[in-house]
Order: sequence, then structure tokens, then C-alpha cells
Amino acid sequence: MTAKKKKVMLLPGDGIGQEVMAQVVRIMEWMDQAGMASFELMAGKIGGSSIDAFGEPLTDETLADCLSCDAVLMGAVGGPKWDDVPFDKKPERGLLRIRKDMGLFANLRPALVFEELAEASTLKREVVAGLDIMIVRELTGGIYFGQPRGIETLPNGDRKGFNTLVYTTPEIQRIGRVAFDLAMKRNKRVTSVDKANVLESTILWREEMEKVAKDYPGVELSHLYVDNASMQLVRNPKQFDVMVTTNMFGDILSDCASMLTGSLGMLPSASLGATDAAGHRNALYEPVHGSAPDIAGKNLANPLAMILSLAMMLRYSFDMDAAADRLENAVKATLSDGVRTGDIMQEGATKVGTSGMGDAVLRHLAAG
Ligand code: IPM
Ligand code: MG
Repeated sequence: MTAKKKKVMLLPGDGIGQEVMAQVVRIMEWMDQAGMASFELMAGKIGGSSIDAFGEPLTDETLADCLSCDAVLMGAVGGPKWDDVPFDKKPERGLLRIRKDMGLFANLRPALVFEELAEASTLKREVVAGLDIMIVRELTGGIYFGQPRGIETLPNGDRKGFNTLVYTTPEIQRIGRVAFDLAMKRNKRVTSVDKANVLESTILWREEMEKVAKDYPGVELSHLYVDNASMQLVRNPKQFDVMVTTNMFGDILSDCASMLTGSLGMLPSASLGATDAAGHRNALYEPVHGSAPDIAGKNLANPLAMILSLAMMLRYSFDMDAAADRLENAVKATLSDGVRTGDIMQEGATKVGTSGMGDAVLRHLAAG
């Protein structure tokens, strides 16, 4: 019996998005040939490349294609070329729209230090070696989407810019449950990050997290204010297991956590929706890094975050844990061999480009 084809939408986006996506496509084709999976690939545009082609960062057609697929793989969006585009047409708006319209409320950003890269972090080896934390960021609410928002001119001629930080109980509870479910499969600790000493919306956040915790008696819940959390992340990151937080705090803390791992070029992410009655869940997988226009098109970018995003897709959308393990092990073996792109380069290592890194991972995948 042949398994149903897995429909995957590819959105390489801008800058290095194109070249890192190319490496992932090679791996998917290899998996197809090896009989590990059967993919049906569709491709579309998002961000600046969509602005250039269609005048907007995400078209209704592309969104509909995404919704018709089992999972979406995205590269990165943005670049100086679109600096002068009006705010509501910027490349980033395409990303925010796809998250919102696909209902991708849960953003999983694992920060994992590969043993081989412990030296690559700007922090001391003993602080980061063995680190394995999962940041769960709320992705479709909070200040990113709250109304009212805007820039207005006051009667006296002064201008006023404003945004609204708003969370409702269902929004908090559903992201809370994602965090607790993950903690159950990990070290059974959740740290909820808020600013409950100042912001009412996060007083509610804290109260609702306490309620969710009652359904998970085996999981220990603690709370931190975001300023303290950012300090603890660089002081002693290994105290954390799962961190759950609001959209904007998660944006900031995940960039911070990425540096613990040595390079932004190593971090994958998954953005997940709710599971419907038929068991389907909208999902988008993307590296945490951006489009890095300064190195785009030069075969310099590290494709590992994109490749690890594919591993997350195999795990979370397709229950293919064995294949995901095999791919992650191929990445580890590649690093053990001393193969490095520029961002994680170390003395004595072998420097490769984007495609060279893809070659090395494929070689280990085939051997594994
Ligand atoms: C991220 C990015 C985006 C965000 C930008 C590009 C809109 O920084 O995914 O972390 O703020 O969510
Ligand atoms: Mg960010």
C-alpha cells in the first residue's frame, strides 16, 4: 500500500530564503526516492517577491493554496529593496497575514545547543552546553494585532502613535495548553513570562495560566516578569524547559535565545493552528532567521535552520518521528565532521557554502 501523498506548499520568499529552500527541496526529493515519504510540492510567492510579481505581499490565491496543503514551508521575507513600500504592503505584512489567516496561534521555537557548536556561542561553554529549551510564543494575538492601532494627528497638531495589547481567556488558554502538552513530553516544567506588575492584559495571562496548570498536575508552573526572564536567559538558560509568552515578548526572547545556540542560522520554528474535527492542523515551518539580503545569492547562507524546520514538519505535521530523527542526526553528523558555513565557522573546520552544507547533510542522510 502506498501512503497518501503529503501536499507541501513551498514559499521561499526573499533573500537567502530561495537558496536555503533549494537545499530542503533536494532533501525532500531524496526522501521521495528513498521511499521514506511521498511529497507533492506546490510553490508560491510571499513577501517582497510577491510584491514584485503581484503588487502585494501575499495574494488570496497563494493563501488559498497554503490552506489546501497539509503543511507550508517558508524561507524568509523582507529586504531593503522594499523599504519604501507603504506600511500595509510591506513584506512583513504577508507573513503576519498568513499567520493570522491560517490561525497559526502557536509558535514553537526550540533553542537547542548542538554539542559541536557549544563554542560558537558568545556565552561561555558551561552556560550553554546541553541547552534544550522550547519557547512557545503566542502568534496571532496581543499587541501585534490588537485594535485600535494607528497614527493620528491631534487637534493641537501633535501626532499620536498607538497599539493595543489585548488577550482574551480562550487565546491564553489555548496557547497555555500547547505549552503544557509539550512540557509533558519534556522535563515537565513551564515558565510563563509576563509583565503582570504593570500590564492588566498580562495579569489575566498569569491567572489563566494558573487555571490551565490545574489540568496538568504533573507539570510545574512558574512565572517570570519579562525583564527578569531576559536576564535569566543569558545568566542561566539551562534552568528553563518550556517558556510560554505573548506575541511580542516571544519575538524578543526568541532572538535572545537564538544567540545561546551560536547562530540564528541554526534555529527552526513551527507555527501551528488548532486541530480540526478531521484531525487536520494548519502548520507553517520556517527558520527563525531573516532574509539576510547582504549575503543573499552568494551561496553563503547556512541552510541548517531551514533543514531543521523540515524535520519539525515531519514530526509535527506528519508524525514521521523516525524520519525526523534521521534528518536531525544527519545534521549532527555533519557538524561532527567539522563542516561549517561562515556563521558557525571555527578554527580547523571545513568551510562550505549553502549547497556544500546541503551535500554534506544528504550524504549523512543516505548513510544513516
Ligand atoms: C519573527 C519576525 C517577525 C515577527 C517579523 C518579520 C514580522 O521578527 O518571526 O520573529 O516580528 O514576528
Ligand atoms: Mg523576530
